[in-house]
Amino acid sequence: MSTLWIGTSWKMTKTLDEARAWSEGLREALGGDTAQAPAGVQPFVIPSFTATTTVRGILGEDSPVLLGVQNAHWEDAGAWTGEVSVPQAKDAGAQIVEIGHSERREHFGETVETTRLKVAAALRHGLTPLLCIGESADVKEAGGSSEFILDQARGALEGLSVEELSRVVIAYEPIWAIGEKGRPATVEELVEPFAALGAEYTGKVAGLLYGGSVNLDNAAGLLGIEHVTGLFVGRTAWELDGYLELLRIAEAHTAA
Ligand code: 13P
Repeated sequence: MSTLWIGTSWKMTKTLDEARAWSEGLREALGGDTAQAPAGVQPFVIPSFTATTTVRGILGEDSPVLLGVQNAHWEDAGAWTGEVSVPQAKDAGAQIVEIGHSERREHFGETVETTRLKVAAALRHGLTPLLCIGESADVKEAGGSSEFILDQARGALEGLSVEELSRVVIAYEPIWAIGEKGRPATVEELVEPFAALGAEYTGKVAGLLYGGSVNLDNAAGLLGIEHVTGLFVGRTAWELDGYLELLRIAEAHTAA
């Protein structure tokens, strides 16, 4: 059984006080000074940039919970107003760089080419790229889901060595399933896309995650889909109790 990655992006939510309360609660729930991840589970949290050092400070340097940023530029430094580089993210305590979330592709011009450059930048600095891929409702209705997401993944991961690919985590997040306007995907709908992704990437990447309207009722079923090795969660995990329950569900799944 592979390690199950269970993580959350806070997207553009949480003040520093809220970030502190969530992180302190998580640290205590995992054992405080001797915090440990649930058996077989790799927890991760991806706050807004402003909370990166705060969360790192609370979790501690040796935390079993990995910390990430929601984006980073492909250049190491320079005149790129409003951007944050991978070395800066690393300096602030990040270990993961989220790349290519559909909200960034839709609203901020992220392309297959920029995701490729960002994956390379993360790997160059020893951080884990968390590559998000996912198709729109239109593509799904036309029957092109698997081909579309494979194109996104292949484009972003082109040219990587076996060793580099082994440090990449992929999250499949169908756009139609994400957020308030999304509808939870059924297990049946996800079997085929994960079969396609799994045929290409299982055993080669560090994780193959599902994301999009994950909740406490559907999490166990989603973890049961062949090739799924984790969940990437928004709303359900923004309340710490929701996140802790997802960790318990994952732990129970690895023990089963
Ligand atoms: P929701 O779980 O709120 O649908 O968000 C999923 C997501 O986009 C995680 O990156």
